Amino acid sequence: MRPEFVINPDLLRAFADVARTVFGYQAEAIAARDDKFTPAKLAHAVQRISDFYISKPSGKTPYELPGAPAAYLLYYTLLNHVRTLAVFREAKNLGFFEGIHRAIDWGSGMGAAWLALQDVAPEVLGSSLAFDRSTQALDVQRALRRIFAADAVTEKHPLTIDDRKLREFMTVGNPDKTMAVFSYSLTELDGLPDWVLDCEALAIIEPGTNQDGRRLLAIRENLIRQGYKVWAPCTHQGACPLLTHSKTDWCHDRIQWQQPDLYSAIEQHLPMKHRTLVFSYLLARKKLAPPAKMISAARLTGDQQNLKGQTRQMVCKGTEREFLSWQHRHGEPPEFARGELVQIDPAAPKKGADLRVIAGQVVRA
Ligand SMILES: C[S@@+](CC[C@H](N)C(=O)[O-])C[C@H]1O[C@@H](n2cnc3c(N)ncnc32)[C@H](O)[C@@H]1O
Repeated sequence: MRPEFVINPDLLRAFADVARTVFGYQAEAIAARDDKFTPAKLAHAVQRISDFYISKPSGKTPYELPGAPAAYLLYYTLLNHVRTLAVFREAKNLGFFEGIHRAIDWGSGMGAAWLALQDVAPEVLGSSLAFDRSTQALDVQRALRRIFAADAVTEKHPLTIDDRKLREFMTVGNPDKTMAVFSYSLTELDGLPDWVLDCEALAIIEPGTNQDGRRLLAIRENLIRQGYKVWAPCTHQGACPLLTHSKTDWCHDRIQWQQPDLYSAIEQHLPMKHRTLVFSYLLARKKLAPPAKMISAARLTGDQQNLKGQTRQMVCKGTEREFLSWQHRHGEPPEFARGELVQIDPAAPKKGADLRVIAGQVVRA
């Protein structure tokens, strides 16, 4: 099974500390004063932000709404941090970060992605630049970093709202060692900015919605045309079967995570529950090709579905829209999660869109 993602306890302490010192956040039991944020009050603010995102899917994050910055820290930043953790763990396992020592986190907000890189692959952060239009969000990010990664609070890791500093960062350093990161920020832009195509590595994490997911598939096609090699989630460079063989499908991952108390305290006042986390993502490199073992691997792009007589699961290994199908008459099917990378025995017979597999013919890659 895929691991359950757990937030680094030191980072959780930083979240709690910043929430308390910057926003006057207090746990429900002791929060008596009206000017203090409680989980219930933050849940109201989360709901307002959520309503905003639903009514304006490509609108700019509304930090100016009442309570929004505190809600963004303890709810959205935390969720996005876990999603980016998952993507960067996968990247690290694949060897995706080889030769990368500089990162630009565009629309970095309160640092969900930067903090994940610091946790999973600090070697990538030889130097970095966090760019956002919100000074307030960057101030909160700075406060988190001071606690979680004090060594990285130097002039080698600027946080800025100035577009010229971003361009300067690109011109003074080696683009072949540079990765551009977009975590839930491309959704607020019309397309990839021009400087991005100079970067050797791209990591894009987007909401796992139909609209954002399909848009990312179109961006993938464009990147391949520009000479990029996709490392994940795809194991091939061909046309995406979800884009070409369907008008409604989109590629998205789902992970299990361990909800910290800090987060559950807010979620219990909300109608939406994040028992699992969903997102779409793309890892691409310009010059470095994915390892050869990826070519024969396949990505599970669906959840397992228990149907009458069979268990079916969408799988991607090329331009065809395909499914693994375990016939129950051959025994209990093995459990695989969406997002896992597997090897499939080429001898498995194909019937329509289904690869009829039996135990032992699908193994984790
Ligand atoms: C949904 S938030 C994501 C923040 C963070 N990356 C995360 O994963 O939590 C999108 C961020 O993009 C920033 N943003 C949107 N448009 C921008 C622009 N034109 N220039 C700079 N930042 C922008 C917003 O201020 C916001 O912080």
